[in-house]
Amino acid sequence: MNDLLIQPFQLAWATGALSHGPLIRKTTLLGDLSAIFTDGDATQLFPDRPAYAVDMFDTPGGEGELYVGVTHLYPGKVGNEYFMTRGHFHQRREQGEVYFGLQGEGQLLMQNQQGQAWTEPVFAGSVHIIPGYTAHRLINTGSQTLSALAVWPSTAGHDYTSLPHGFALRVIEEAGKVRIMAVKHG
Ligand code: PA5
Ligand code: NI
Repeated sequence: MNDLLIQPFQLAWATGALSHGPLIRKTTLLGDLSAIFTDGDATQLFPDRPAYAVDMFDTPGGEGELYVGVTHLYPGKVGNEYFMTRGHFHQRREQGEVYFGLQGEGQLLMQNQQGQAWTEPVFAGSVHIIPGYTAHRLINTGSQTLSALAVWPSTAGHDYTSLPHGFALRVIEEAGKVRIMAVKHG
């Protein structure tokens, strides 16, 4: 009888901790990210320092299936630039994604294929509908870990190569404040 009582996968909303399901964790180190920061060389001072970790449920992929994961982006700066994820378009460009802010504070940077970029503030309870054909990157502007839940089509794939000049906006700290700055070549 108890075979019918299935424990669902679980998420601790306050921290983003996933449990009760098979998990995959991928950690990205500062040393992997030298190409994305303005002062890329500075990442090599602490190459083994984790910049972010992504936990996701190890569930079957395939056309029509969804993946669920949480990004934990640690606080910190490289020079005056806040820690950020690498950022990507989806290989299947038409496929979107939804992010839900869980803890911490930051920005979600988005950029369309025409090179127009914009940001949305991320905080516990924020909801972000990332349209298709839109590259996306998380930036942690706070002093705590920024955690965001993401749901995306399993077939979307990640394309890390199609923004050769990076994003058109950078998020830096200037005089103790968050500044979102337009740049010519990301
Ligand atoms: O699916 C997503 O968009 C996220 O889970 C990201 O992959 C995650 O935030 C890590 O970012 P990136 O894949 O750009 O390194
Ligand atoms: Ni994505």
